[in-house]
Amino acid sequence: MKLFAVAGSLRKASHNRALLGHAAAIAERGGASVDLGELRDFDMPLYDGDLEVASGIPDGAKRLAERITAADGILLASPEYNFSVPGVLKNAIDWLSRRRPMPLRGKRALLLSASPSLVGGNRGLWALRIPLEVLGVHVYPDMYSLAQAHEKLGDDGVNDAALAKFLDGLVGRFVAEVGVHTSARSG
Ligand SMILES: Cc1cc2nc3c(=O)[nH]c(=O)nc-3n(C[C@H](O)[C@H](O)[C@H](O)COP(=O)(O)O)c2cc1C
Repeated sequence: MKLFAVAGSLRKASHNRALLGHAAAIAERGGASVDLGELRDFDMPLYDGDLEVASGIPDGAKRLAERITAADGILLASPEYNFSVPGVLKNAIDWLSRRRPMPLRGKRALLLSASPSLVGGNRGLWALRIPLEVLGVHVYPDMYSLAQAHEKLGDDGVNDAALAKFLDGLVGRFVAEVGVHTSARSG
């Protein structure tokens, strides 16, 4: 069973990318194979209907669509910007939504966030659910938001035992759920 993992931040020192890496490692220990993507590698212009008419879907969005299509589920860790979805991520979702067949439809996704704030970016994840669910993604009901990420994330993962255990359990349950649906489809 294969997961595609990507963070909604372009920053090299992104807390969300770090959290995603730990979640990906947990998923691999749970038997998933994880394809770690970098949003920066799928460079695409701001969505522009005239550009789409003139030259179609940009190559970066096509490549992102291929990576998602090849996966059974998605791990997505995104910062919260102004209580909502970062523009780079929303722009990518908008381009993906124009691709046929639409690569997000029917995928299962687990949403994670990390922020130095005390709320951990959770409001941004609620905003992110809306376009994903509209596009037919089965967004996992539970989400994980790590507050004070600058203190709670270390090289070995989340350095708070209770929060680390919750992440372990959540990713494990998500991997199991994607596995069930993957084998139901293929069997
Ligand atoms: C434009 C902008 C808006 C932000 N808005 C919020 C916010 O609404 N809530 C929050 O918790 N943090 C907010 N932050 C802080 C980010 O959570 C913080 O920069 C975080 O580290 C970004 O994620 P990253 O480390 O993965 O790049 C904002 C940061 C920027 C640059």
